[in-house]
Order: sequence, then structure tokens, then C-alpha cells
Amino acid sequence: MLSRREKAGNMAGKDVETREVLIRRAEIDKRVRAVARQITRDFKGERVHLIGVLKGACIFLSDLVREINLESSIDFIAVSSYGRGKESSGQVRVLKDLDSSIAGLNVILVEDILDTGLTLSYLLRVLRQRRPKTLRVAALLDKPSRRLKPVEANYVGFKIPNEFVVGYGLDYAERFRNLKDVYVLHLPEDGTH
Ligand code: PRP
Repeated sequence: MLSRREKAGNMAGKDVETREVLIRRAEIDKRVRAVARQITRDFKGERVHLIGVLKGACIFLSDLVREINLESSIDFIAVSSYGRGKESSGQVRVLKDLDSSIAGLNVILVEDILDTGLTLSYLLRVLRQRRPKTLRVAALLDKPSRRLKPVEANYVGFKIPNEFVVGYGLDYAERFRNLKDVYVLHLPEDGTH
């Protein structure tokens, strides 16, 4: 699975961080299309409303919504949990709320990654109170081994091991979101490179 290793000099230029491809763009494309086909089947004849959790999910949502063959609308919500580091603080709060009501809509919450489940568990609670017709979750990546809350996604792109991943929307301190593949990131202090 981990087939390629690249080196990327860090800002200081002294230490070196490494990243290796975990999931290639072609595989991602295939899974995104499969998830979109499943959603299209599940909601045949209905409209779906996709809610992206900023910022990480914006790339996945953009690709996913264009593959869904149904009347669709989109909105975004921003929450804070990870701060600038690698570990979740466990604190979740809304930074940017939805633009419009979701009452009576088939809502699909779109996440780039489901990790501890703290963010998703909080968001599901908040969104359920707003009376959507249905509420489902699509997550590109799922790290089941990290779960602290008993939440699952209805649509999962890939189950992955407990590695810190970047690319395809996922960041480390706001870097790497633009990479087309998903990478495992090793930092100098990891001692793993
Ligand atoms: C990531 C991801 C999820 C959350 C998942 O967001 O997009 O929202 O963490 O982690 P959890 O299951 O442990 O709660 P992050 O806080 O990194 O923000 P970002 O999307 O802006 O990068």
C-alpha cells in the first residue's frame, strides 16, 4: 500500500519531513464515483443536499457532487477541533454556520476524514435538531482504530490505518491540501524516516 516515498524540505530547510503515497488519485476517483453511484441509487427520484465540513471536505465534495446524478444542492459548515497540530483537542465549536435551513431535506454530511468521531458526533447532534428528512454521512477516509465516539459514516471511501494523512483536502498546519493523492506524513520528530 505504501509504495512511494518522497522527500519534502521543511520551511527551515534543516530538518526533513517525508511523505509517502497512501492512495493514488486514480483510486480516489474510482471510489468517489462508486460512492456517488450508491448515493444516486439510494435517493432515486429525490433531491440531496450536501453539507461539506470546511475546510478539508471541499475537494471531496466538489468531486462527489459532480458525480451524483440527482438534483443536488450544497452548503458548508466550519467547525474547529484540531487547531494547528496533529492531535484533536476534543473541543468542537461552530465557526461558520450553514447558509440555509435543512428542514425536510435529504442531507448528506460530507467529511474528508472520520477520526475520533468527536466532530461528527457533535455535528450530527446539531443537524438532527434542525429536522432534516434524512441525515447521512459520506467520509472519504475512515480511521476506525481512533474512534472515541460510536459514530459511523454511511458511505466510506477508504478505511485507513492510524497514520497522519495529508492531501486531497487534508492538511498539516494548512499545508498540502492541494496534493492530488493522499499521503502519509512523517515529521522529523516522529523518528520514522
Ligand atoms: C478534520 C476533519 C474532520 C475532523 C475529524 O478537520 O475534516 O472534520 O478533523 O476528526 P475527528 O473525527 O477526530 O473529530 P480539521 O479539524 O483538521 O479541520 P480542516 O478540515 O479545516 O482541516
